[in-house]
Amino acid sequence: MIDNKKIKILVVGGAGFIGSHMVKMLLDNNYNVTTFDNLSTGYRDAVIGGEFIEGDLADNQKLSEVFKDYSFNCVMHFASSIEVGESIHNPKKYYKNNLINTINLLNQLVKSDTQHIIFSSTAAIYGNPNHLPIDEDHTKNPINPYGKTKLMIENVLTDYSTAYNLKFVSLRYFNAAGCDPSGLIGERHNPETHLIPLVLKAASGRNNDIKIFGNDYDTKDGTCVRDYIHVNDICDAHIKSMEYLIQGGISQCMNLGNGSGFTVNEIIDTTKKITKKDFDVINMERRSGDPSTLVADSSLARKLLNWEPVYSDLDKIISHAWNFERKYFLKDK
Ligand code: UFG
Repeated sequence: MIDNKKIKILVVGGAGFIGSHMVKMLLDNNYNVTTFDNLSTGYRDAVIGGEFIEGDLADNQKLSEVFKDYSFNCVMHFASSIEVGESIHNPKKYYKNNLINTINLLNQLVKSDTQHIIFSSTAAIYGNPNHLPIDEDHTKNPINPYGKTKLMIENVLTDYSTAYNLKFVSLRYFNAAGCDPSGLIGERHNPETHLIPLVLKAASGRNNDIKIFGNDYDTKDGTCVRDYIHVNDICDAHIKSMEYLIQGGISQCMNLGNGSGFTVNEIIDTTKKITKKDFDVINMERRSGDPSTLVADSSLARKLLNWEPVYSDLDKIISHAWNFERKYFLKDK
């Protein structure tokens, strides 16, 4: 029996949306957790326990001290810039934060002989799909700097894992959504660009309406289809990936999705049903760079990690996120 308390994990970007859920899940499972975050987009109060180090991946001196003081069994790396649109207008930020800073981190792993890393990758590495559902062998043709930097790091990881004593799992998330059922932590991006939190903002009255970016796509109701995966299912896949690597698994890239797609209209209708709130819905032009449908084939993660999404039901994903919206923003008890 492995004693989880003896497994030391560094969560880089642990104050962000997915990172803070990861920290909570690791603590709930009695792992020894240290968070490293520069608080540029994350929140100190989202890190509900463990040790917290405020620091930046660009600061090699600080990183070197962290890796000298601790001996980590695994690093989970969530710290990156994530806005697709912004990455097109400000690629410099993405090549710095997502590429150069991640290489800094990897070099510290190599220097300190830290052997396992779980990397947050994305469906954006595939670009416009040429078949559905998207499996890991699908061509990789990212259409924005965000996706390009993530793919570049996967290539760096492959080379490092061949040359050095380092094994990785790269998890390619589709649309991360939902919140911890406790409502203690949730999604707090600023600015918010993601669909579900924006629909909830309209339901709570913090926004006047929700805008639909395009209703003339080749889908069942004309709006885009996405594969929404609950954040706790993503975190569960991280724990299983870490166990897989510690038990000697080879380096792998794996998709993480529910395997079922929902349209923008379905998200809006489900939100209205769950929140019992009505709000204005405005049809707009298409947003540039949006593929019509993205749905994951996650059979590799299911097979290799024995992973199964628990919260695949859209009602659950939305009601958990609504819980946080009410508790945190509306101060409902
Ligand atoms: N949408 C709207 N109105 C909004 C916001 C979004 O109609 O106000 C639509 C988008 O056009 C899209 C869908 O809702 O069709 C989902 O949009 P999101 O912005 O929530 O998510 P994306 O699918 O654009 O992006 C997600 C991740 C990225 C990742 C990408 C993979 O957030 O990090 O999937 O393609 F790169």
